[in-house]
Amino acid sequence: MIKPSKLGYADLAVRDMDAMEHYYTEIMGLTLMDKDEEGRRYFSTGLDHHNIILTPADESNLVGMGLQMGPDVSLRDLKKMIEQEGIEVQLKSDAQPGIPEMLEMKDPDGFLVHLYNEIDMPAPRFKENGIVPNKLGHLALGAMDAVKTAEFYGQVLKFRYTDRIGDRANFMTCNRDHHVLNVSNLGKHIGRPNLYHIAFELRDASHQYASLDLLSKNDIQILWGPTRHTAGHNIAAYHHDPDGNLVELFIDMDQLIPELDYFDPRPWHEDFPMKARHWDDNAAWGTRFEETLFQHSLKKFQGISN
Ligand SMILES: [Fe+2]
Repeated sequence: MIKPSKLGYADLAVRDMDAMEHYYTEIMGLTLMDKDEEGRRYFSTGLDHHNIILTPADESNLVGMGLQMGPDVSLRDLKKMIEQEGIEVQLKSDAQPGIPEMLEMKDPDGFLVHLYNEIDMPAPRFKENGIVPNKLGHLALGAMDAVKTAEFYGQVLKFRYTDRIGDRANFMTCNRDHHVLNVSNLGKHIGRPNLYHIAFELRDASHQYASLDLLSKNDIQILWGPTRHTAGHNIAAYHHDPDGNLVELFIDMDQLIPELDYFDPRPWHEDFPMKARHWDDNAAWGTRFEETLFQHSLKKFQGISN
């Protein structure tokens, strides 16, 4: 099975490295693990060598992502399979601390995709202070052509569609979480590929409330939520990190039973069984939540480019 097992890390292009290091260590409660010669900083949520990389840059954006493959996947065989799809891919050794070998390719928007079997697990454990999420949950990509980018992840890496909202959001997973990627068309609207948002999973509602209190005490405004999404049914709340990236903190995401092709039933589901579906924009809850948030990001990026 060449499908990745998990979203291992996100690599962010960062303007203000010190503010972002402070945010990831003191606010998010990750552990700083390493700094390399190029000035990149590596952070762990609790087990892997890193789950977040901050790369110094002039402009904030997503550099790329790391996807961890199962131990039975041969990177050499996978390289051949990807090349057969007409995609350029390189096998790299010791390209990152903690990862002995990886494949590197670019998705249609130019975001780097790293595939690896092994990552060091120094297990700094979960910190006692800060938000301390369970894990990096998903990335929402701002694609130039959302359908084309979603097809890339579907065809090349065997991500499966879970849900879609209108023609602007494509939810895809490689494991049991409702979405590991959300491929949106935000890039098309602002004229360049970008990061729509990065999302971390929290433990439960009390953890979410405590996290939002912590943000508030640190003068970080909650932009929206917590409220329940339609696709994925996660209860989400959003804020900005110091570099202006939208960050989601969520609980309660739908869990797929892949073999049965439906989501573990929950009282708030619209369908029984709840299967992948194509939602109308803002079909449920009588709110304009998701469109509002999308418009918020659109305005923010248009403000930067104008
Ligand atoms: Fe999200």
